[in-house]
Amino acid sequence: MKNIALVGFMGTGKSTVGRILAERLGAEFIDLDELIEREEGISVKEIFFTKGELYFRQLEHRMVHEVSQAGNRVISCGGGVVLDETNIQCLKQAGVVVCLQATVEDIVNRIRINVDRPLLNVKDKAERIQKLLEERQPCYDRIDFKINTSGIDPRGVAELILKLVRDEIEDK
Ligand code: S3P
Repeated sequence: MKNIALVGFMGTGKSTVGRILAERLGAEFIDLDELIEREEGISVKEIFFTKGELYFRQLEHRMVHEVSQAGNRVISCGGGVVLDETNIQCLKQAGVVVCLQATVEDIVNRIRINVDRPLLNVKDKAERIQKLLEERQPCYDRIDFKINTSGIDPRGVAELILKLVRDEIEDK
């Protein structure tokens, strides 16, 4: 099969849903942030703080390219992958890109206990999320397939994705 790349804001469930989807399809699951952490030997948070966001984005871009070299993969991407349109083009060449969406409220609830996200390391998380979502909206608008995850559990989201892209991922 062709790849399914999951993009979308932090806390929209990309990794959880991606794992379920990969298992369901008998495909390889790749979490891009985990790959980056393994390559660098430190966490994403530490990369941001010690080497800067630009360094992280360059690494992310290289990894997008690498994981797009083979098929039969479900790739969960970091929330900022959409910022670079060439990332999306690259992922599209090897398969289909699906954007997971959620409300600010859902995102706040999902990320609350997690302190690993450098861009959300602020007091007023809802305000920062709202601002970033607005900034990134034009990027999401460019993605063909979108799923609203509000009120749906990860298994349900995985099923919706399957229905949406089943024909697209078939090797023809
Ligand atoms: C980021 C999202 C994070 C991670 C990094 C930057 C972003 O991934 O790549 O902290 O810019 O939205 P998740 O979406 O998996 O949290």
